[in-house]
Amino acid sequence: MAMRTAISSRILSRAALPGARSMSSWWRSVEPAPKDPILGVTEAFLADPSPDKVNVGVGAYRDDNGKPVVLECVREAERRIAGNLKMEYLPMGGSVNMVQETLKLAYGENSEFIKDKRIAAVQSLSGTGACRLFADFQKRFRPDSQIYIPVPTWANHHNIWRDAQVPQRSYHYYLPETRGLDFAALMDDVKNAPDGSFFLLHACAHNPTGVDPTEVQWREISYQFKVKGHFAFFDMAYQGFASGDPERDAKSIRIFLNDGHFIGISQSYAKNMGLYGQRVGCLSVLCEDEKQAVAVKSQLQQLARRMYSNPPLHGALIVSTILGDPDLKKLWLKEVKVMADRIIGMRTALRESLEKRGSTLSWRHITDQIGMFCYSGLTPEQVDRLTNEYHIYMTRNGRISMAGVTTGNVGYLANAIHEVTKSA
Ligand SMILES: Cc1ncc(COP(=O)(O)O)c(C=O)c1O
Repeated sequence: MAMRTAISSRILSRAALPGARSMSSWWRSVEPAPKDPILGVTEAFLADPSPDKVNVGVGAYRDDNGKPVVLECVREAERRIAGNLKMEYLPMGGSVNMVQETLKLAYGENSEFIKDKRIAAVQSLSGTGACRLFADFQKRFRPDSQIYIPVPTWANHHNIWRDAQVPQRSYHYYLPETRGLDFAALMDDVKNAPDGSFFLLHACAHNPTGVDPTEVQWREISYQFKVKGHFAFFDMAYQGFASGDPERDAKSIRIFLNDGHFIGISQSYAKNMGLYGQRVGCLSVLCEDEKQAVAVKSQLQQLARRMYSNPPLHGALIVSTILGDPDLKKLWLKEVKVMADRIIGMRTALRESLEKRGSTLSWRHITDQIGMFCYSGLTPEQVDRLTNEYHIYMTRNGRISMAGVTTGNVGYLANAIHEVTKSA
């Protein structure tokens, strides 16, 4: 025993193994990663003991009591799934039923592309996973391409394409003076990009601005993409959240499909089914024919295999149970509309409250913008004052998550915004 201890202490002793690293040296050069700006807002909110505190930073739906929501259609699907003890792996491409139902939402219930099997599609780890898988696919098969990303955009887009080593370019999107779309500059950027460029487009309810092109503008964008031979990759994280109707929110995609584009789409059930933590979504790429779709899908599956092998089962079961049952699907559509309508109602309430307080600034953009977010136009300094003096939390770019605004806090929020913008 004494001898064994002596040997092991000699093995562990650095002196006994000249040149050996100390046990702690492997990660000595690792610095802490910068905090995610959105998650940092939530941390600060949670740490604030004030009873008045309001969190309009986080991009997750809340009911009018400020509480997270589990949709009734999801509860019913859970009841039906309960007791299903099939824990086998899904295929690399995920649940075939879930993917088929998901494609109908984006491409249309009776899409000829679905019938002709021209869409390469795989279940993804929600919208983030779909974007990342596409970025990796783009890098592998179009290694010299770049991605054009709108200014501003969801911050993670930059991280995703950076980590996939796809060079990024930007295109104009938001015009601060009008708090609306900078359509002329956007079109110039589309025209000036090299032929055959890749563009990331938000299909609806643009994050963070809440500003979407009109139908006529989408048609012009699609036309110009055709002229230039650009590739459109649609990120659709909020289908249903813009208008309350998933079919209407797919308009941009349908315009591109009608114009004959071969597009890619990222879909997510985080927001519109409230399945945030289940990580369920879909990546699809429209191909020239079935043969090409089979090849593309096989490559997407291979990329997935190396990263996470296959996607999770439970969220996919919830989605396919809901969308595969006409009554549950109807209930889902009703519940999406309830969420979207509550947000639209809060936009009106916030604007009216500001106007009632005598604010002389224009707050029209609050009701013009759509989806979960309002790009308020508040400066970082004004946001800091809202946080420090009124315990109101949001990202410093002035993005208000309308999903966090309630009948109970809208007056307080309006009052605080009025106070910090009075002298502007
Ligand atoms: C524009 C956009 N794309 C993608 C996502 C990804 O969301 P998830 O991965 O939760 O589906 C989000 C989430 O906030 C988003 O706003």
